[in-house]
Amino acid sequence: MVGLSFLVFCFTLLSLLCQQSSVAIQIITSSQSLSDGKTIVSQGESFELGFFSPVDSKNRYIGIWYKTIPLQTVVWVANRNSPLNDSSGVLKIEFNGNLVLHNGANNVIWSSNYLKATENPVVELLDSGNLVLKDGNDGNSTSYLWQSFDYPSDTLLPGMKLGWDLKTGFNRYLSAWNGVNDPSVGDLTYGIINFNRYPEAAMMRNSKEYYRSGPWNGLRYSGAPELKPNPVFKFDFVSNEDEVYYTYGLNDNSVISRLVLNQTSGNPALQRFTWAQRWVLLISIPRDLCDTYRNCGAYGSCDINDAPICSCLKGLKPRSPLDWNKTDYSLGCIHETPLNCTKGDRFVKFTGVKLPETTKTWVNKSMDLEECKVKCLMNCSCTAYTTSNISGDGSGCVIWLGDLFDIRQFNTAGQDIYIRMLASEIDGHYYSEDVPFMTIRRVLVTSIPNDQFKRQ
Ligand SMILES: *[C@@H]1O[C@H](CO)[C@@H](O)[C@H](O)[C@H]1NC(C)=O
Ligand SMILES: *[C@@H]1O[C@H](CO)[C@@H](O)[C@H](O)[C@H]1NC(C)=O
Ligand SMILES: *[C@@H]1O[C@H](CO)[C@@H](O)[C@H](O)[C@H]1NC(C)=O
Ligand SMILES: *[C@@H]1O[C@H](CO)[C@@H](O)[C@H](O)[C@H]1NC(C)=O
Ligand SMILES: *[C@@H]1O[C@H](CO)[C@@H](O)[C@H](O)[C@H]1NC(C)=O
Ligand SMILES: *[C@@H]1O[C@H](CO)[C@@H](O)[C@H](O)[C@H]1NC(C)=O
Ligand SMILES: *[C@@H]1O[C@H](CO)[C@@H](O)[C@H](O)[C@H]1NC(C)=O
Ligand SMILES: *[C@@H]1O[C@H](CO)[C@@H](O)[C@H](O)[C@H]1NC(C)=O
Repeated sequence: MVGLSFLVFCFTLLSLLCQQSSVAIQIITSSQSLSDGKTIVSQGESFELGFFSPVDSKNRYIGIWYKTIPLQTVVWVANRNSPLNDSSGVLKIEFNGNLVLHNGANNVIWSSNYLKATENPVVELLDSGNLVLKDGNDGNSTSYLWQSFDYPSDTLLPGMKLGWDLKTGFNRYLSAWNGVNDPSVGDLTYGIINFNRYPEAAMMRNSKEYYRSGPWNGLRYSGAPELKPNPVFKFDFVSNEDEVYYTYGLNDNSVISRLVLNQTSGNPALQRFTWAQRWVLLISIPRDLCDTYRNCGAYGSCDINDAPICSCLKGLKPRSPLDWNKTDYSLGCIHETPLNCTKGDRFVKFTGVKLPETTKTWVNKSMDLEECKVKCLMNCSCTAYTTSNISGDGSGCVIWLGDLFDIRQFNTAGQDIYIRMLASEIDGHYYSEDVPFMTIRRVLVTSIPNDQFKRQ
């Protein structure tokens, strides 16, 4: 018993000592500053901001980490590409309202670049993990002059926006750390693309597309069956004249979760973790080979449960059968007879798919599926169409103009797409064929009244 009380005593003493060595202040005003060794803790003690060194590194960075988690997990870094090499750094607000990090020689190492004069600038770390610069004289507590949530590092926290402010052209995206002990901006990024067409998220490696999520279909990303509503997470995608962004939240505020872009584990990955005495990996994207961008080429479809995983959409053939047989699918597939936009065209419904890439798409949110078909048929460049929002009864129209890339097959949670074919391809080859159930080869022919082909 004596031993235990002694231990408790020692522990109490230790934590008192610890508290003293790290002086916590709540906010920074223009008359205060934050030097190395001090930290700011958010009001509810969820997050902490201060100077840190990554494992095995002597460099000093300003960062934000979880206050409640013993394993230091940094979610944001200010001076990613300009580390301090000693503990002389000072974070302060300049007279013009700019938040700056100085080194010992008083050089500016990093700044928030907010340059509009503000009478009473105040910096506060919120319980969401957002570091905000506010005008202390402005009664509106949600009006920020600058916020770290607008400049993500490698981590998307609940409530952060990933995407575009269309009024200013400002884009928020994730960029991975270069290494476990190097937070400098890596060559892996993840953000929203095709915001003015049918938006989707993409992972880029050295500016080349590596993975795409599939477009947001009103319920989830077309290629992310796991994003279904569930008791823990809620997912949202906003797309209007002002902004296009993805965000997520937690139904239970006691859950701690983060989405992190990681290139330190060898393969690039977007990982979702929750904390349960340790970080538990819920999902890592790309999931498999079929998630690799354009793995099966044009008009190829990837099915991870099939062998080989790539096949041509039914009715089409490999562009280069020799390469295809050698498992090089990059050249993709072609129509047996090229489409020539005549009376013979039909649409074939394919089910259970991740929609093709949306770089060449056109969307009308108020057209119905029938109008959509007509729109596609009238335009010789149109190769496919479907409902742009599958929520509820489905609404809206999206058409693809050009070759279809990066289709994959999902057994559950895939969606329908209507792909243009020659009538001869359909009738001659497989209309009467006995096609397997629940695969992309299952086809339904939708007939088109002939008068739609008349020139207007
Ligand atoms: C630290 O960096 C400063 C400039 O930022 C440089 O002058 C100084 O020599 C560096 N010190 C060490 C020990 O590398
Ligand atoms: C506070 O600021 C936010 C963001 O600028 C704005 O959306 C909101 O309408 C403002 N609230 C009031 C009461 O002015
Ligand atoms: C990156 O992935 C590796 C391997 O899964 C993991 O050990 C590491 O913690 C991850 N990094 C971050 C920042 O979560
Ligand atoms: C590819 O493989 C198929 C099936 O094994 C075979 O019928 C076809 O002749 C092969 N094509 C070429 C060009 O090797
Ligand atoms: C278009 O293709 C169909 C079917 O192959 C063919 O019968 C027709 O002659 C072609 N039309 C033109 C203008 O090439
Ligand atoms: C979108 O579709 C609606 C309904 O068919 C139509 O009234 C509107 O003009 C279309 N908008 C564009 C830009 O084509
Ligand atoms: C097809 O539709 C697209 C998008 O509306 C348009 O840019 C293109 O000019 C159209 N092409 C033809 C041949 O009508
Ligand atoms: C999709 O449709 C639903 C209604 O069924 C609507 O509430 C939602 O806002 C739509 N989503 C988008 C992105 O347009």
